Amino acid sequence: MSEKMNTFENALDWVDDTIPKSVRFDDTYYSKTDGHSETGHVFIQGNNLGSRLIDTSAFSVGELGFGTGLNFLTLWRFWRELDIKDSKLNFVSFELYPLSKSEILKALSRWPELQTDAEHLFKNWNPDFEFFQFKHTGISLTVFFSDANIRLPQLQLKVDAWFLDGFSPAKNPELWNADLMQAVFAKTNMDGTFATYTSAGWVRRNLQAAGFHVERVKGHAGKRQMTIGKKTPLDPLA
Ligand SMILES: C[S@@+](CC[C@H](N)C(=O)[O-])C[C@H]1O[C@@H](n2cnc3c(N)ncnc32)[C@H](O)[C@@H]1O
Repeated sequence: MSEKMNTFENALDWVDDTIPKSVRFDDTYYSKTDGHSETGHVFIQGNNLGSRLIDTSAFSVGELGFGTGLNFLTLWRFWRELDIKDSKLNFVSFELYPLSKSEILKALSRWPELQTDAEHLFKNWNPDFEFFQFKHTGISLTVFFSDANIRLPQLQLKVDAWFLDGFSPAKNPELWNADLMQAVFAKTNMDGTFATYTSAGWVRRNLQAAGFHVERVKGHAGKRQMTIGKKTPLDPLA
């Protein structure tokens, strides 16, 4: 699938009237337990961002699947609270089926602490363009409204940490395939990492085959395992 979908083709169901669920993928955008704390556990801790962000003045994050922007908003807040002098954070994400602004704001309304940032961030959101950009003291976000399989390999980009956040691999296999995992590895700086909530064996093998050192670690709230990995200097493919 290479073309951006119109938002009206991107039907949503709402679980408990607050959690968006994609009809196309039959999966929710974030954990039914607490998506905000899941982002903290899986993506921020999974990539060890607490200490890595403090240690550097410029850091770059890539994400597969922008969805509601919950991961970005959670990271933005986390990074701002670290209050690192003169630091820069660059976040690049991909979204083939963008949600509308009203859907996103409804999905985020369960976290009052994110409201002000969300309204600011999505003020000029318009998925009719090729991409969306947002800049705010030290932070920069670009969301490409295209298939990550096509757009990522075209970009001159290297990131320090990946948030691999497609829908469940069984339902959204194109966001976890071997070629895309190779592109993710190629676009990762040395010592860069990835984290994902899934522990699916075939996804882990795709990431290993791409060149990452892969580990399974404890998952978030009731989930037994998730997967993390690193690009190390000994990797023959590096
Ligand atoms: C689990 S949701 C992401 C949740 C998101 N990170 C958040 O913070 O709300 C997965 C996302 O991947 C997107 N997606 C699925 N296939 C894609 C593709 N081939 N390229 C880019 N995005 C894709 C979906 O439309 C959906 O928004």
